[in-house]
Amino acid sequence: MHITDYSEYQTDYQKSLEEPDLFWAEIAEHFHWRKKWNKVLEWDFEKPDIKWFLGAKLNITENCIDRHLESNAEKPALIWEPNDSSEKHKIYSYKDLHSEVCRFANVLKKLGVEKGDRVCIYMPMIPELAFALLACARIGAVHSVVFAGFSANSLSDRINDAAAKLVICSDAMCRGAKQLAVKNTVDEAIKNCTSVEKVLVVNRLDWPIQLKPNFDYLYDIESKGISDHCPATEMDAEDMLFILYTSGSTGKPKGVVHTTAGYMVYAAYSFKNVFQYDNNDIHFCTADIGWITGHSYILYGPLLNGASTVMFEGVPNYPDASRFWQIIEKHSITHFYTAPTAIRSLMQSGSDYVIPYAMHSLKVLGTVGEPINEEAWHWYHTYVGKERCQIVDTWFQTETGGILISALAGISPLCPAHAGQPLPGIQPVLLDNNGNEIVENEIEGYLCIKFPWPSILRTTYGDHERCRQTYFSSYKGYYFTGDGAKRDKNGLYRIIGRVDDVINVSGHRFGTAEIENAVNQNKNVIESAVVGYPHDLKGQGIYVYVICKELPTGEEQNWLRSSIIQTVSEEIGPIAKPDKIQFVSALPKTRSGKIMRRILRKVAEGDSTNLGDITTLLDPLVVEEIINGAVL
Ligand code: WT7
Repeated sequence: MHITDYSEYQTDYQKSLEEPDLFWAEIAEHFHWRKKWNKVLEWDFEKPDIKWFLGAKLNITENCIDRHLESNAEKPALIWEPNDSSEKHKIYSYKDLHSEVCRFANVLKKLGVEKGDRVCIYMPMIPELAFALLACARIGAVHSVVFAGFSANSLSDRINDAAAKLVICSDAMCRGAKQLAVKNTVDEAIKNCTSVEKVLVVNRLDWPIQLKPNFDYLYDIESKGISDHCPATEMDAEDMLFILYTSGSTGKPKGVVHTTAGYMVYAAYSFKNVFQYDNNDIHFCTADIGWITGHSYILYGPLLNGASTVMFEGVPNYPDASRFWQIIEKHSITHFYTAPTAIRSLMQSGSDYVIPYAMHSLKVLGTVGEPINEEAWHWYHTYVGKERCQIVDTWFQTETGGILISALAGISPLCPAHAGQPLPGIQPVLLDNNGNEIVENEIEGYLCIKFPWPSILRTTYGDHERCRQTYFSSYKGYYFTGDGAKRDKNGLYRIIGRVDDVINVSGHRFGTAEIENAVNQNKNVIESAVVGYPHDLKGQGIYVYVICKELPTGEEQNWLRSSIIQTVSEEIGPIAKPDKIQFVSALPKTRSGKIMRRILRKVAEGDSTNLGDITTLLDPLVVEEIINGAVL
């Protein structure tokens, strides 16, 4: 299970190609199974129908917690760092974690949650968030975490799609200097959710909240005197573990489904090898548990390895831009894993914030979420890593469950801005426009994977056809990632970015159609078109072209802009706020009515020179208007 040098990587990679069943069976031996599998893998990418470790029985929390109790009961499992540096941090040993998760699980049972029920979790980064996920897994309920930055409308859609029976939330949350309501947002969201039978509220800030009798329950009250033992429910390898919503090129986010055994094996295997985790290491991943990075590399991956994992409630620049470095020194962190957007913003705050922190404990740095530009990579390497830490640029997706392409820290060749080589078991290919595999190097192609790995998504919740269409129909026999990539002569992959109508804003994914739908909810808007453009801090910014009943002028424009931004915050959440809004009288459309996004993207990038052939446009004159009115 642990790769210790490059030749071992090569041998394992080869073995995973030649004998995938044997390769994964040997890795799976490292876990605790109630019953072992009868067969390692069955798959068909056309349906798609993918099953791993068929017939096996297990509970992932026994692997995350119980099996470490014998020798590591007192070892810190979860280290929680609060938003305010003056508030005391908390450390939960594996034994503490066991009790907390069991208590939480018993509360869920008391509220009527059963195996297979969907539970929606909408919470800030407090320890109870981790307990809640694990408590669901303990009793076989399916967790669906919704990032707490999403609006009531987004939350409502996700609750309905999964038909969640219970919502777990907090009273409120803090983010930097701000305090924000959480329970109120849930109240707002569930007005339209008939599936929800109860809401469970964890107290964070003592906010006054309204409690509906026999509907809203307080965790503090429900957990009083409850047992801290809860037997783990036996799950089938392919039983659903969680749903996690993510955006695609169509309007509605989809619920990516991960199942128990395959996800467990791959989250653990990838964590161990990419980060080269060693027994006394302390791992700090700055993601939110509301994203796949948080699921796999704050919670499941580290705990499955018996590691100590840090969970941070706050933001990188509060009280100032040295907060991460303070946390690293305070907890003697060895592994620091963050997003390029955070690195760029800290870089912009100035190196003076990081220079005084020696951070002797650090060994490995990671990045994830979007391509990292060379400048940010070098800053990270020089100022944070002090030129002695390994950097791993890890590529993966909500759908892949775990890291598929990355260097293994200290083992594989590194190259700034390159994710690197595939992990053993992963068979990436680049396809050309005709769907043929590109064998040459240095040519950009569509990144696809041609063989399943244990944590590949199994379906999109409630709509299997959508899963097939989105991921398995573009190129027959392949899983299509939606990314474009290049491979260099050494076989290292460089991820270029999305080739579909998905934009990546500060490492968060949005469909352009999804944002357009939101913008169109504003009653002044008749039609809109959204494109991404390069943004210094966020990677990509959101540029919206809007048609209103009449072309607004002066003050009216400012007022409309704020109104549209407000609408998007309400429809999706503040994280999807447009950066630039341009009012136009028409959009460049072909005679068949299709918007020529190529033109809109070029103008948003500030380049109106090579717009290509515009003669097929219904009205080529609109292009000039758009160029002249560009918001730069
Ligand atoms: C998309 C997946 C899984 C991490 C959090 C985002 C982009 C992810 C990298 C990387 C370049 C990356 C891709 C991918 N992406 N990691 N190391 N280098 N691009 O998860 O929301 O499912 O988004 O993020 O475009 O398809 P996600």
